[in-house]
Amino acid sequence: MNKAPLQILVVEDEPDQRELICQILASNQYQITSAESVEEAILSIKSSVPDLVFSDWKLGQLTGMDLLTYVRREHPDMGFIIATAYGTITHAVDAMQAGADDYLSKPYQRQSLLMAIDKVAKSLTLKQQNRRLASELSQQQELVGLVGKAPCMQKVYARVQRVSATDATVLIGGESGTGKELAARALYQLSSRQHKPFVAINCGAIPETLAESELFGAEKGAFTGANTLKIGKLEAANGGTIFLDEIGELPLLQQTKLLRFLQEGVISRLGQNGEIKLDVRVIAATHRNLKEEVEKGNFREDLFYRLNVVPIDMPPLRERKEDIGRLIEHFLKIHAGQYGVEAVKLSAETMKSLLDYPWPGNVRELSNRVERFVLLADEQELVAELASGLVAINPSQFVLPEAGFEWEAFEKDCLQQAMSRHEGNRTQAAKQLGLSYKAFLYRLEKYQLV
Ligand SMILES: Nc1ncnc2c1ncn2[C@@H]1O[C@H](COP(=O)(O)OP(=O)(O)OP(=O)(O)O)[C@@H](O)[C@H]1O
Ligand SMILES: [Mg+2]
Repeated sequence: MNKAPLQILVVEDEPDQRELICQILASNQYQITSAESVEEAILSIKSSVPDLVFSDWKLGQLTGMDLLTYVRREHPDMGFIIATAYGTITHAVDAMQAGADDYLSKPYQRQSLLMAIDKVAKSLTLKQQNRRLASELSQQQELVGLVGKAPCMQKVYARVQRVSATDATVLIGGESGTGKELAARALYQLSSRQHKPFVAINCGAIPETLAESELFGAEKGAFTGANTLKIGKLEAANGGTIFLDEIGELPLLQQTKLLRFLQEGVISRLGQNGEIKLDVRVIAATHRNLKEEVEKGNFREDLFYRLNVVPIDMPPLRERKEDIGRLIEHFLKIHAGQYGVEAVKLSAETMKSLLDYPWPGNVRELSNRVERFVLLADEQELVAELASGLVAINPSQFVLPEAGFEWEAFEKDCLQQAMSRHEGNRTQAAKQLGLSYKAFLYRLEKYQLV
């Protein structure tokens, strides 16, 4: 590889010495400028920045250390070698501590000079490479609204970036509140469809009877009450992206229609004879284990494979504790800005409690707690609440009975208990079960407890 010659500034007040050093270096293909004092050296650096400075220690009234201080402040990555007088090792030590890359004790051999320069030149190249890598990494460390630098999040970012440019179908998994929707939006914002529509639909929040017309649309008169033509979400997203949230809740009938769209790119509105060709990129998300749902017969296997072209799993907060502090800072800033209040700092003790907490509700729970703290500025409450926070059932203490067990009866009982404990206050009851209001309501409806 042809590289530009290294630019070296030689600073030496003895004219003969200076001449000699310049000659040695110039004959080794280095490009040389020279100065006889610290002041002249600084002027020279200002007019043309060298890669490396080779400076004598003693320079009239000032020393090479003064020059070193200037160079380190203005150009942290510039190479710096200092030549010290025989027997003044303390000077060498001081210079190294002040950030010199190397030193030479006078008198030195021509060979030692060249070796020292060569060594520092190599380390400069490495430094530059590292800096470039570090800046590439720091650009990637956080991605369109997603805060977190843990290695497991880096994997998520890498995958998001890789597939965002394609039209591949993506299935985002992960517990509630781990940022699935945020990841979907990041995928969209980084894609070439970013200026086209992004239509989000929560498959868990639409009643089964309306699912079909919501997703695929309905012709006028297709069913009682269909007084006008209804455009479905997929059609509305034409040319852009659809985000099918909680895809695990999609009724089987609509699963079949969605599969047809994924395979053939066409849909039919309810009551329509023909079909409509659409160009829509599909991103789906679910907190469920869809493979298990397939085994249980709740989810079509062929649809699962169609959706799961690129799986992205959002890691739970307890698996990336190193991000908790960063997220707290992020939410302190966001919520303080939202309410126009001063951002408050948390004490080290409170921070520790927050770091030790298992965060069953993941990032959403963290955000909510920080929001309340910003409003109330009550650290005591923040910590006391954590101590009596939700208990994550430890799977090792709960053994699934051999003979099986009535999951739905158990779930219904939990819902009823929570409702009666909170005297019908759904927000409170949902909170006690660690469910979002929507998810809670969906379950109440499912068991006809509304
Ligand atoms: N990595 C993150 N950085 C910053 N904010 C985040 C992050 N992950 C989640 N959040 C925030 O936490 C909240 C929940 O995120 P989101 O709605 O994307 O989660 P989800 O996985 O879709 O949850 P659910 O399964 O309950 O729908 C949102 O307010 C979101 O902005
Ligand atoms: Mg979501």
